[in-house]
Amino acid sequence: MIKVLFVCLGNICRSPLAEGIFKEEIKKRGWQHLVEVDSAGTSTYHLGEDPDPRSIEIAAANKITLKHKGRQITLNDLHEFDYVLAMDQENFRDIQRLKAKNQRASLFLMREFENDVTEKDVPDPYFGGDNGFQRVYEMLDRTIQNLLAHMAQEHEELKK
Ligand code: 4NP
Repeated sequence: MIKVLFVCLGNICRSPLAEGIFKEEIKKRGWQHLVEVDSAGTSTYHLGEDPDPRSIEIAAANKITLKHKGRQITLNDLHEFDYVLAMDQENFRDIQRLKAKNQRASLFLMREFENDVTEKDVPDPYFGGDNGFQRVYEMLDRTIQNLLAHMAQEHEELKK
C-alpha cells in the first residue's frame, strides 16, 4: 500500500477536504487497493471533530462526501506514511519539529505540486469568508492531479 497523509493546522478545513478529493480521484483511477489516504492536524484544537461545515458543503457541491474525525499528527505517522503533504510552511516546520529519525515519509509542501508556483501556502480559510473555501477547493483539485501524476511516475504498480 502507498500511504498518503494530508496535514494542516486544525484538521477540519483544508486537509480533510484534500483527503476527500484525493479519495475520489483514487476511486476514479481504480487504485483503491493500491493507495490509502488520511489527514491530520498539527494542533490539538479540534480532536474528534467532524470537518468544518464549509468544507463539507464545498465537497458536497462537487459530489464528495467527507468522512473524517480530527486527529493530531504523530511521530509514528512519519514512519507509516509514504507521502506527507503539508498545507503551509508553518505546518511543514511543525512536522519537521517531530524530528523523526529515518522516517519513511517524503515531506512536501502541497503547492510544490502546482504549476507556476509563486505562493507557497494553501491559505488557511478558517477565519475568512466562504469564497476562501472555493479557492482552496480549486487549488487542492489542481495540486492533487499533479501529485497523482508524480506518484504514477514513481510507482511501478500505478503505471498502467
Ligand atoms: P485548517 O483550518 O488548518 O485548514 O483545518 C483551521 C481550523 C481551525 C483553526 C485554525 C485553522 N483554529 O484556530 O481553530
